[in-house]
Amino acid sequence: MSSPLFQPFQLRSLALDNRIMVSPMCQYSAVDGSMTDWHLAHLGMLANSGASLLCFEMTDVEPAGRITPGCSGLYSDANEAALRRVVALCRSTSRAKLAIQLAHAGRKASTAPPWEESKPLRPEQGGWQPLAPSAIAMGEGEIVPRALTRGEIKALVAKFSESVIRAERIGFDALELHSAHGYLLHEFLSPLSNRRDDEYGGTLANRMRFPLEVVAAMRAAWPAHKPLGVRVSCTDWAEGGWDIEQTIVLARELKKLGCDWIDCSGGGLVKNQVIPVGPGYQVPFAERVRRDVGIATVAVGLITEARLAEAIITEGKADLVALARGFLWDPRWAWHAALELGATPRIPPQYLRGRPAHRAPATAERQAART
Ligand SMILES: Cc1cc2nc3c(=O)[nH]c(=O)nc-3n(C[C@H](O)[C@H](O)[C@H](O)COP(=O)(O)O)c2cc1C
Repeated sequence: MSSPLFQPFQLRSLALDNRIMVSPMCQYSAVDGSMTDWHLAHLGMLANSGASLLCFEMTDVEPAGRITPGCSGLYSDANEAALRRVVALCRSTSRAKLAIQLAHAGRKASTAPPWEESKPLRPEQGGWQPLAPSAIAMGEGEIVPRALTRGEIKALVAKFSESVIRAERIGFDALELHSAHGYLLHEFLSPLSNRRDDEYGGTLANRMRFPLEVVAAMRAAWPAHKPLGVRVSCTDWAEGGWDIEQTIVLARELKKLGCDWIDCSGGGLVKNQVIPVGPGYQVPFAERVRRDVGIATVAVGLITEARLAEAIITEGKADLVALARGFLWDPRWAWHAALELGATPRIPPQYLRGRPAHRAPATAERQAART
């Protein structure tokens, strides 16, 4: 039998060829929120990585929701046209299914890109006022965000729906909502960043209210046959913060709203987080959510070896694995994993002659390239 990592998987009407997803990765290379030629090259390359699902980077629902001035957005006709161009390229050269991650950076907005140390950008440097559930900065030297009013929260729910409608017009196959890594939705969930005293703060039910309102609105705007997932930080890795027990409660509510997968990440909210980094260090979260909630999960975080990825699927710890840095380093990661695990990689016919002759018989690969 072929490797479980290369078995198909179904999410509503979306049929995936294998269990590998390219994790969303900001490129900080957009202009006014619109993707550029860099994205054509980058996503065009990753569309042929052998992963069955390619998730486009964190794409923000309003300009103030961008981490950096170069972050991707889906709030204008120009953004929509630019994304349509990238999707068209991916469709014309690959069979990979395409997802997009929608987000709002919250208090982590208005910074320089990582290659400029992610320094906070003041208005005179092209920055803007970051927004958050409460006026609490992420740490010393960071800009203090302004707390959103209840009216602004409602308006943001509508902005998520508007971006969903644009994503559907472009023709994406799946949506992922970014509720992790210390961005706006995660900031509402965690008691470390949410000190509101209205119906959006305090109890767990209140802290979950805004993310759940966003998911309900997104689900209503997204076709019933298309899947929608949510990326969460399963823990803040910090005392007194969000944790796996609260994640389980949230995941149950998300499931009731028609969410199809939970992408189980972690951290990103506070500077004093202590993360036990190691191969597959977040996999236990995916396993726990999958078992306790009965929902599909994505495992992510330092999954770099084909055998580890395969074991996660074989042992029922997750339904999909997502890799980020592994694909930047080796954009053909899934071809190489297939060969290592005795599966047939789907190599574009133009590249078939590149396969080292000693690796495996090429007949099946030629057939796969034609399908
Ligand atoms: C360059 C880069 C950009 C990233 N951008 C995003 C993003 O847009 N959305 C997101 O949820 N995670 C983002 N991440 C996190 C990755 O999706 C992933 O969760 C993390 O890197 C751990 O997986 P890995 O060990 O396979 O890299 C980014 C990571 C990298 C390296």
